[in-house]
Amino acid sequence: MHLKSMENAYSLEGKNCIITGGAKGIGLGITTAFAHQGANVAIFARDEASAAKVVEEFSTKYKGDFSFYKTDIGSTASCREAVQAYMKDHDRIDVLVNNAGIGTAGPFMEMDEELTDWFECFNIDLHGAARMSYNVLKYMCEQKSGHIVNITSNAGEIINRPFLTAYAVCKSAFNHFTKCLAAETAAYGIRVNAIAPGFTNSNFSKDLPEEVYKAICADVPIGRFAEAFEIGALAAYLAGDISDIVTGAVFTADGGYALQH
Ligand SMILES: NC(=O)c1ccc[n+]([C@@H]2O[C@H](COP(=O)([O-])OP(=O)(O)OC[C@H]3O[C@@H](n4cnc5c(N)ncnc54)[C@H](OP(=O)(O)O)[C@@H]3O)[C@@H](O)[C@H]2O)c1
Repeated sequence: MHLKSMENAYSLEGKNCIITGGAKGIGLGITTAFAHQGANVAIFARDEASAAKVVEEFSTKYKGDFSFYKTDIGSTASCREAVQAYMKDHDRIDVLVNNAGIGTAGPFMEMDEELTDWFECFNIDLHGAARMSYNVLKYMCEQKSGHIVNITSNAGEIINRPFLTAYAVCKSAFNHFTKCLAAETAAYGIRVNAIAPGFTNSNFSKDLPEEVYKAICADVPIGRFAEAFEIGALAAYLAGDISDIVTGAVFTADGGYALQH
């Protein structure tokens, strides 16, 4: 919708939103930010128990409607069936956030002979988003409206040490996928943007030894990890009418880390 004034411009009230991996880590931060803005959120993920807890808690705490659709984004059939099931229950889809992903660390030449990590990383982190986008865009193109927000990584823009080659190349391709899709769908009134987070407090950071965590903080210009809801706040901006002029953009949200790497 073309923004006409700042009145309720940040609101997501009544917007039907799908968030992949919306019950954990950064995804939960996005669900939280969207819930605060009044959105209806459907979590698309594999782990029913964690999602059920979030759906129950958020349904009592916030105005919006919260639901769960069991989905494995590594499977084309699973994505298609989950989106079809969602569209049977809803009359429209306003926002898709492609957040679900896996991290694959390590140098390229340390992978096994079958390049197992390479293919797994691309299958989930890039092809998973392609599967979800394809199925959701069918409906958005028909509606002639909708927003997609992709969660990529600052690893797609820099050379990390220690090396994360498969992950970094995958996230770099995901940034370019964002731009290609934005150009292809603009004529349908659809916007596609990406957020490239840096170090963010999540399951991954919880397992880091304290001295490693502190050393990373010292290497980030603003001196700390992001909180998941801070990535959520930017996603809420990109999902709402407030950002109607923005498409094909990749927003780095890493406390300045990529500036010096
Ligand atoms: N944390 C960071 O520092 C950081 C930095 C830059 C970018 N990122 C990116 O941010 C996104 C979220 O990362 P995170 O740190 O929040 O990770 P996380 O805590 O490990 O959560 C990953 C999420 O992805 C979902 N998921 C994984 N595989 C899936 C599959 N096959 N099908 C459906 N859902 C699947 C998981 O849900 P289920 O287990 O329920 O399926 C979970 O909700 C990822 O794309 C990651 O690359 C993270």
